[in-house]
Amino acid sequence: MEEQRPVIGTEIKESDLDKVLEYIRIERGVDLLSSYRRNFVLRRLRIRMREVKVLDFAKYISLIENNPEEFNNFLDVLSVNVTEFFRDRGVFDFFRDIILPDLIKNKEGYKEKVIRIWSAGCASGQEPYSLAIIIKEALADKKDFLARITASDIDSEALERAKKAEYSINDFKEMDNKIIEKYFTLSYNESYKLSNEIRNMVLFRRNNLISDPPVHFIDAIFCRNVMIYFKREQQDLIFHKFNQALDRGGYLVIGKTETIWGKDLFTSVNAQQKVYQKS
Ligand SMILES: C[S@@+](CC[C@H](N)C(=O)[O-])C[C@H]1O[C@@H](n2cnc3c(N)ncnc32)[C@H](O)[C@@H]1O
Repeated sequence: MEEQRPVIGTEIKESDLDKVLEYIRIERGVDLLSSYRRNFVLRRLRIRMREVKVLDFAKYISLIENNPEEFNNFLDVLSVNVTEFFRDRGVFDFFRDIILPDLIKNKEGYKEKVIRIWSAGCASGQEPYSLAIIIKEALADKKDFLARITASDIDSEALERAKKAEYSINDFKEMDNKIIEKYFTLSYNESYKLSNEIRNMVLFRRNNLISDPPVHFIDAIFCRNVMIYFKREQQDLIFHKFNQALDRGGYLVIGKTETIWGKDLFTSVNAQQKVYQKS
């Protein structure tokens, strides 16, 4: 249950919240209210403003404008920068039930049947490994198919954790027990080690989405809860890179709170799950 106590010392009023939210929606493409309750955002914003000793919403907006780090700090307070296996379960069900069967169908006629996925901004690996588990299960009776999952992030430490593939029970909120039993082994230190058959399906590499070239010949890109870090012009640049990275008909999946710009580059496949296809 959310705590309703007002935070003493911050003057931000509920009506002011709309201005901050509107600023974040327009400038950053993040619609926080699509995923978070209003009261939750209001209380977290008050906490952050108190931490940086800014008690006026207009001053806080200018702080975000002048200091890109501050926006990330606010996202940290909202805990947007977390990850877990099968985060937003519906998106992974959509991948399993709609996207993957479509990719398989399209490749049936080809000699080389390779499904190529890119998890861009993969953090500590839960997203690409979730995709690998789904693909492993789906291709169990299709021995002539291969999957190549490239997972990239700017954060080398997160990539090292991803390669280690040891997780805590808290990462498994959305995971069926059967899958945990099948693909993880409980270690002596209470962590769960992912099996090599899934680990070997994912290739991790460091990649800065802003300054590095994209991965190419991709069938589906998952770039979820990453765009929130970027301003609109940077998002534009990345959407262009994703357009180049995808093969014809390739899919792009973004985060629940995120918005796609450049509507001529992609067409919407499922608005609720934020799934798009290269135009
Ligand atoms: C909140 S996590 C998203 C993890 C996963 N995609 C998910 O939705 O659960 C955001 C990730 O984006 C990465 N990131 C931020 N800026 C980046 C950049 N310029 N290039 C590549 N990755 C970046 C961060 O290091 C972080 O691991």
